[in-house]
Amino acid sequence: MSDPPFRIDVLTLFPDWFAGLLDTSLLGRARDAGVVRVDVHDLRAWTSDRHRTADDEPYGGGAGMVLKPEPFFAAVEDLYGDVDARPRTVVLTPRGALLDQERVRDLAGAGHLLLLCGRYEGIDERVHEVLAHDEVSIGDYVLAGGEAAAAVVIEAVTRLLPGVMGNEQSATDESHAHGLLEYPQYTRPASFRGMEVPEVLRSGDHGRVEAWRRDRAIERTRRVRPDLYARWRAIGGAGADDLTPGGDRRLNQGGD
Ligand code: ADE
Repeated sequence: MSDPPFRIDVLTLFPDWFAGLLDTSLLGRARDAGVVRVDVHDLRAWTSDRHRTADDEPYGGGAGMVLKPEPFFAAVEDLYGDVDARPRTVVLTPRGALLDQERVRDLAGAGHLLLLCGRYEGIDERVHEVLAHDEVSIGDYVLAGGEAAAAVVIEAVTRLLPGVMGNEQSATDESHAHGLLEYPQYTRPASFRGMEVPEVLRSGDHGRVEAWRRDRAIERTRRVRPDLYARWRAIGGAGADDLTPGGDRRLNQGGD
């Protein structure tokens, strides 16, 4: 018997936001294959007044509105029977911990996720305190709400689930998998508008290809993401000094 699908529940004021996303190639295929099941729930279904009010003014004053706690707690109790029975619950918020590939891998091991999308000035703190296992930000910028961030989590997690990526190797070779950015890729034609594919990639020499790719990954990471490069060095990655002899030595020009 096949495994039950990885489940993702989303609580949002804008369920329509996710409509197209869930039918797109990677997610649509994963869903059709029974690997993932995504259920998007309208938070307003758990409001109790005639106007279906989900937000209110902040205590202490200040601009904007805050999402009320009651609909979140009511939704969780309704969906799972009890707050303690809720799945791994993630609040998408600019104040959360930065999402990186390690966190994505961790979330992909959960089996069942509940993603809570904020809007306006945020969500009542009691939702964070009681319901959230994780608070996640997708970057140091502020979106209009958590929906786009939830979409990022859904896609990043889904592509790691077994059977989703046709080629399992691509999930281990890619950017961030080993703490380095990915090396450059080329396909045919070998010569295009005067730009040549590097000779080494056409050499058929697997060892040289590997060394070249590793060097380019190191070089790019050091140039574009010095923060990642420093971390990679700290966990034992080789440095610019260790670039393949005879390879592209540009790296050493800046000193190390
Ligand atoms: N909501 C608003 N901005 C966000 C961000 N950067 N990450 C996650 N959720 C958000």
